[in-house]
Amino acid sequence: MEFTPLLLMLSVLMIPSEAAQTAVSLRVSPSRSQFFKYESVSLSCEDQGSSAGGRVRRNTTKRWLEACPADWGVATAGSLCSIQDTFPHDTGVYWCESESGEHSHAVDITVHDGAVILESPVLPVNEGQAVTLRCRYQTPPSDLTAAFYKDGSLVRTEAAEEMTIPAVSTSDAGLYRCSNSELGGSPESWLAVRAPPPSPTSPPAPLLSLPRLLCSILVSLPYLVVTVLLLERCCRSKGVCSAAKCDEEELY
Ligand SMILES: *[C@@H]1O[C@H](CO)[C@@H](O)[C@H](O)[C@H]1NC(C)=O
Repeated sequence: MEFTPLLLMLSVLMIPSEAAQTAVSLRVSPSRSQFFKYESVSLSCEDQGSSAGGRVRRNTTKRWLEACPADWGVATAGSLCSIQDTFPHDTGVYWCESESGEHSHAVDITVHDGAVILESPVLPVNEGQAVTLRCRYQTPPSDLTAAFYKDGSLVRTEAAEEMTIPAVSTSDAGLYRCSNSELGGSPESWLAVRAPPPSPTSPPAPLLSLPRLLCSILVSLPYLVVTVLLLERCCRSKGVCSAAKCDEEELY
């Protein structure tokens, strides 16, 4: 039928051009920002669910753009990179770089040569989610009480070593640390809070721009003409033409 190429042409012209989304992301296990010296940590890259998502890179205070496993860590399956015994010099920014050169979000990892660390989410948390910050002690003190600070000011003192924010908002984002009266304080880590994605109320993009619309009309015009002619001939042969058309025919 003549309709098939016409519809195909129109549908091809109407496909909105959309850039492919980059989706390489970094996973950290255990999922926290701070580590005691000699703890182990694994990092891996994921590209839209597959684990062969590129290589893990890092910047530390001493060195820039180090890649695993050439410069640090031990590579195991896929892109998984592990550090068996962390040292303070492993403190730095870590991210993934995909084969095509795309970068994931970057995370800060701190290795502390001390008795107290803050356990906080290493990846951004979504607004509204519950977040627990935990003060971790290398050896338990007799008094577990922990004081939590945000951007340098005391926010809460907890008899147990953790504090929960039931539903985080973007105003909770900031630099957090904790301290214990016997063991001292932890380093600071940034808590990132992600606002919810904008609801899909933005005006819809037009399906066809003006040049595309003109182009579609130009391309489809011959098909339309042929289709109309064919339909008319079909009508006549089957004798189902309208009264007006039949009168016309009688004139010939
Ligand atoms: C790492 O260091 C390089 C060199 O200074 C810099 O260009 C790059 O932006 C840094 N990357 C991150 C994720 O901090």
